[in-house]
Amino acid sequence: MYFYAAPMEGITGYIWRNAHHHYYPGIVKYYTPFLSPGKKKGWTSREKAEILPDHNHRIPLVPQVLTNSAEAMICSAELLHDLGYREVNLNLGCPSGTVVSKGKGSGFLKDPDKLKAFFDKFFEYRLQRNITIELSVKTRLGMEDPEEILTLMKIYNQFPLSEIVLHARVQKDLYKKPARRDIFRQALRACRHPVCYNGDIFTLEDESRFEKEIPEVTRIMLGRGIIANPQLQEMIVNGTDRDMGRLKMFHDEICTGYENIMSGDRNVLFKMKELWSYLLWEFPGSEKTGRRIKKCTRLSEYKMIVDQWFSEAQPGRNCREDFD
Ligand SMILES: Cc1cc2nc3c(=O)[nH]c(=O)nc-3n(C[C@H](O)[C@H](O)[C@H](O)COP(=O)(O)O)c2cc1C
Repeated sequence: MYFYAAPMEGITGYIWRNAHHHYYPGIVKYYTPFLSPGKKKGWTSREKAEILPDHNHRIPLVPQVLTNSAEAMICSAELLHDLGYREVNLNLGCPSGTVVSKGKGSGFLKDPDKLKAFFDKFFEYRLQRNITIELSVKTRLGMEDPEEILTLMKIYNQFPLSEIVLHARVQKDLYKKPARRDIFRQALRACRHPVCYNGDIFTLEDESRFEKEIPEVTRIMLGRGIIANPQLQEMIVNGTDRDMGRLKMFHDEICTGYENIMSGDRNVLFKMKELWSYLLWEFPGSEKTGRRIKKCTRLSEYKMIVDQWFSEAQPGRNCREDFD
């Protein structure tokens, strides 16, 4: 099985990505959180920092773009091609209301004709401009009805996409409803492109159940599962035990990374708190630490809480429901 690390806005930026690649090598592809090039403003400095080759040294990275404009996509593709990227991914999954209302992310899925016109134009431009960068998509099953994917697949099949990452939910499922494996399986059969599965792989047991259920899939994208347990891929592949020392070093590298690029405790703490809202899933009984971390306003205090927690923590079953 090949494992990818999912794009996660606010979490899997280059600070997290570098630390992850350093301490837990083995991920075949990382994706940037979505980049959203504006028609006039182009890329923000934050977006440029994400894709800068110096910030992604030796990391197998696929930049992801959120747009419904073929022109914006081709401009992004050209820039990324010039920077040496070989693949760009189109976000067809973001479920947020503001994105969907602009007809982007999963909102693009409600208009298959427009989507087809987008691909027509993109591939025509790509040919004209002689750019070789591949286009892949990360798509949900649809907006409301999961069977929408069967119509969408007919469109995806008409174009030379390099891969389809299929998040087995519809827009209205957001992230909580269970992934829909039956329709995923139907979509897989209908697809002529390589398919990567995404959705609800949190533990070793989830992964082995998935392999038994759908053995023909050879690529899995890990989302919240790898944020909660950065060692997840390694534990699945090599059967290693959880390494708390490595988790601490990974954590410290991320924290230092944010301290180096952000000013003020508040901003760094904001990023670290978001990470902890996943990391504690794997540690039953850590709700109190979670609350202390959430409340804390100074980095010095935060570091004391975290050091104390690392000296005592005992991993257990994944208990994400307790933290919802
Ligand atoms: C906080 C958060 C941010 C996300 N940001 C992105 C993003 O930038 N691009 C994207 O395609 N998906 C994004 N996703 C969706 C994930 O990549 C993934 O598809 C989703 O979490 C389902 O996988 P999982 O069940 O393994 O977590 C995000 C999800 C979460 C929870």
